Amino acid sequence: MAYSSLSDLDKSNKKILMFGGKGGVGKTTTSSATALHFALEGEKTLLISSDPTQSLSDIFETLIGSQETEIKRVKNLCALELTTEEILRRWREKFGPEIFEAISSIAPVKYEIVDYIGSSPGIEEEFMLDYILNLVRNKKYDRIIWDTAPTATTLHLLNMPLKFLDHLSAATHVYASLQSYIDKIRQNLGVKKKKRSMVEIISGWRDLSHEILNLIRDPDTTEFIAVTIPEGLGVNQTERLITEFEKYGLRIGHLIINFVVEYPECPFHRQRYTMQQHYIQDLERKYGEKIKIVILPHFPVEVKGIDKIKAVEEILFK
Ligand SMILES: Nc1ncnc2c1ncn2[C@@H]1O[C@H](COP(=O)(O)OP(=O)(O)O)[C@@H](O)[C@H]1O
Ligand SMILES: [Mg+2]
Repeated sequence: MAYSSLSDLDKSNKKILMFGGKGGVGKTTTSSATALHFALEGEKTLLISSDPTQSLSDIFETLIGSQETEIKRVKNLCALELTTEEILRRWREKFGPEIFEAISSIAPVKYEIVDYIGSSPGIEEEFMLDYILNLVRNKKYDRIIWDTAPTATTLHLLNMPLKFLDHLSAATHVYASLQSYIDKIRQNLGVKKKKRSMVEIISGWRDLSHEILNLIRDPDTTEFIAVTIPEGLGVNQTERLITEFEKYGLRIGHLIINFVVEYPECPFHRQRYTMQQHYIQDLERKYGEKIKIVILPHFPVEVKGIDKIKAVEEILFK
C-alpha cells in the first residue's frame, strides 16, 4: 500500500491541529515537525504543549515557558508550554470569581469551593479548549498545533463539554426557580439584586461549551492526528481512541505510525521488522480506508534541534 503524508493539510484551512496518543509515541516530535512545516511555509504558527511531561524546550533546545515564545531561528514560529499548575492558575483567575459568584448566590460557601471544582477531572482540558478558542477568535495565528497530554485526558476533553451541557440543561431549570425564589426573598428584605444571576452566568458557560464543541467538531477547522507505534499495545490504544472519537461524532484524519524499521539489515532488526509489519498491516486493514496512514521511520539518532525536526518534517510532508 502507498502510504500517505500530512501534505494535504497544506491546502486545507484547518486552524487547529491536535496530536494525540500515549506517552512516548512521538507526539512532541511530530507536532514540532508540523509546526516547523507551517512556519516555513510562511504561516503564523503557534505550537502549544499541555503535556505534563514538558519537552518543547528540549526538542527546540531553547527555553520555552508559559508565555508565547518566539523560536529565534525560525520565522513565524511561536511555542508555549503550559504546565498543569499554570493551566489551573489561569483557570482559577478566569473562571474563579464567577463560579464563586454563582454558587455563593444560592449557598453559603467559602472561596475554597473554586479550588474544589478546579480539582475535578477534565478542568485542564476545558481550560485548554477555552484558551485555544480565544486564540482562534483573535486570529493572531494561522495555525495552532496542539501537542496534547496522553490519550486518556484527550478523550476526557471530548466528554466534558457534552456532560457539562447535559447537566446544565437539566439543572438550569432548578437554578432558575431557586434564583427567582431567592430574588423574591432579597426584595422583601430590601437587598439589592446581584450584578448577574446564576442563570445568566450558567447560560454564559453553556454558550461557551457550545462554541467549543462546534469548534472541535467542525472538520474544516479542526484536525485530529493520532500517533502510535507498530506494536500490539499501540494498535489496541489506537482502536480505543478511534472508537471513542466516533462515539462523539469526531474523525481522526491522520494516523502516524512512528518508530518504523524500514531497511532491516541485522537479525535484530529483521525480527523487529517482521513484528512491526504485522501490526502495520493490521492497522491498514482496519483503518486504511477512512484514515490517512503516515509512516515515520525510526531515526538512528534522537530528534533534537531544528535540523533533526526538519528531517522529520520532510518525511511527514513529502
Ligand atoms: N522517529 C523517531 N526516531 C527516533 N527517535 C524518535 C522518533 N520519534 C520520537 N523519537 C524520540 O522518542 C522520544 C519520545 O518522543 P516524544 O515525541 O517526546 O513522544 P511523546 O511526546 O509522545 O511523549 C524522544 O526522545 C524523541 O526524540
Ligand atoms: Mg510529549
